[in-house]
Amino acid sequence: MTTIHHPHAPAIQHDKHTHLSLRHRPRRLRRSAAIRALVRETRLSADMFIYPLFVCSGEGQRREVGSMPGVFQLSVDEAVREAAAARAEGVRGVLLFGLPDEKDSIGSAAYDPEAPVQSAVRAIKREVADLLVVTDVCLCEYTSHGHCGILVEDEITNDTTVEQLVRAALSHAAAGADIVAPSDMMDGRIGRIRDVLDDAGRTDVAIMSYAAKYCSAFYGPFRDAAGSAPSFGDRRSHQMDPANSLEAIREVALDIDEGADIVMVKPAITYLDVIARIKEEFGLPTAAYHVSGEYAMLKAAARNGWIDEPRAMMETLTSIKRAGADIIITYYAREAARVL
Ligand code: PBG
Repeated sequence: MTTIHHPHAPAIQHDKHTHLSLRHRPRRLRRSAAIRALVRETRLSADMFIYPLFVCSGEGQRREVGSMPGVFQLSVDEAVREAAAARAEGVRGVLLFGLPDEKDSIGSAAYDPEAPVQSAVRAIKREVADLLVVTDVCLCEYTSHGHCGILVEDEITNDTTVEQLVRAALSHAAAGADIVAPSDMMDGRIGRIRDVLDDAGRTDVAIMSYAAKYCSAFYGPFRDAAGSAPSFGDRRSHQMDPANSLEAIREVALDIDEGADIVMVKPAITYLDVIARIKEEFGLPTAAYHVSGEYAMLKAAARNGWIDEPRAMMETLTSIKRAGADIIITYYAREAARVL
């Protein structure tokens, strides 16, 4: 017999015969770490992470991005070191973004074979043999106005922009990229990139389509990292309205029809319902991008001592997997791989 005391309540008598006649007691399966592990439904693995890197020119450059602690703009030699370190920790893929030296109105540095991304692809493929190299295909980092395409009277023209994206994708493939990932949200770009890659004999290069990419406030820190904020206006003419999910299904269906191998939902946390729907509906390998703002929020709260960062990180990544993602693109890839 145990007596349970509470300052404002009468003493409660408890003995092992005090029980409700409950047939179901879910708490039985939560009693120990071992039993919780036994019945765990969702397990993260470092195999599913893709680690984004920002590549600039020069040598020995490693400049931390103010709004993204732990994320750096890296010259090619440093990007190789970072990629090798990630690989050693169990991460199997990187996603490359470029910071060109020169920008112009048509984003021509996006397909310069000597630009940072193309150089980094070659160097990483040479030095870190079994690491998957994915490249982001978009013009916003390369245009002087920061828009994702070619402007005519301040509007992005779809079809001429697609031809520029094709040039970028081909140059990434020529450098040795395993997967090209168009993030621009122009119509018809997946089909056109697939056709041109195939005509060039690059049937082996896969396409991961940013298929349901929303017009999100959570890309803010990325635009600091990549120097890609639009000089006027926004991206609402091509990125999706956060209020829509049926439209996401249509967007994904189109990209699959055009030849996408992997489809992506982006951002992740504010679109977990969309991830679940897309995975359920199509069953294709489904990626989710845990974007810069989502990372920055956790880092900021952790730096203030307001959350337990390792727990918040793992809970966040687990929720993305639980929603249905097979692949998670995250700036936390190395930190999470170390925990796993
Ligand atoms: C476009 C691109 C963006 C991101 C990935 N690819 C930015 C945008 O659409 O403005 C955002 C990624 C992030 O926020 O982490 N090249």
